[in-house]
Amino acid sequence: MEVERSVLIGTYARAPIVLASGKGCKLYDVEGREYLDMTSGIAVNALGHGDPDWVEAVSEQADILTHVSNVYYSIPQVELAKCLECSFADRIFFSNSGTEANEAAIKFGRKFQRFSHPDVKEPPVMPGVTFLEYISFSNSFHGRTMGALALTSKEHYGSPFEPVMPGVTFLEYGNIQTAKQVIQRGKTAAVFVEPIQGEGGIYSSTTEFLQSLRNACDDAGALLVFDEVGLLSAKLL
Ligand SMILES: Cc1ncc(COP(=O)(O)O)c(C=O)c1O
Repeated sequence: MEVERSVLIGTYARAPIVLASGKGCKLYDVEGREYLDMTSGIAVNALGHGDPDWVEAVSEQADILTHVSNVYYSIPQVELAKCLECSFADRIFFSNSGTEANEAAIKFGRKFQRFSHPDVKEPPVMPGVTFLEYISFSNSFHGRTMGALALTSKEHYGSPFEPVMPGVTFLEYGNIQTAKQVIQRGKTAAVFVEPIQGEGGIYSSTTEFLQSLRNACDDAGALLVFDEVGLLSAKLL
């Protein structure tokens, strides 16, 4: 732990445990103590540690082809996308983290609006933002880059790094009336919502709330982004 302090930048308050290995839902520290893994790497390791099928698949692929740049086609990427498209989406964008997925969604929001309003040549960005605004909710967490931080309601994540991306309005999570009033055509580029909030506490939204967001976004020509990164299923995908 002392050596780490001298070689790594301290961005996390770690528990004083040095983990060395894991098997299934068990973890072992350098002194051989056993722990039950209740965090799964913060909802990342949905299959546990050393899952034999996962190890076999990763080892097999590593032996065939390690990495290809996005400038080339790759068959496994397309095969995985085909598996996912029947579960929730028409088309897939792969990224390296939840934060990057949200950054991509921020960009998709703006690009979609510019595509939808080809007549508007030079949209003002701030103040008097035109169709480039985002809506997020109380208790939200969307990641730690400058765009994702701007969508994250808890101030302590973003305040040391301000100014973050402008043009984000925070609404009360679950308040249908306010959302309907604020989501507006010609103003709102995208609405970001966690169907079940994790970082802000375990708060589940209602079907009615999500459906009303869907309707309001459709009426306003805005994108609706479901951030399900905190859900184990989404991280597994
Ligand atoms: C809802 C939500 N969005 C985004 C993120 C950021 O994901 P990542 O840590 O993979 O960048 C998290 C992280 O837990 C999250 O819970």
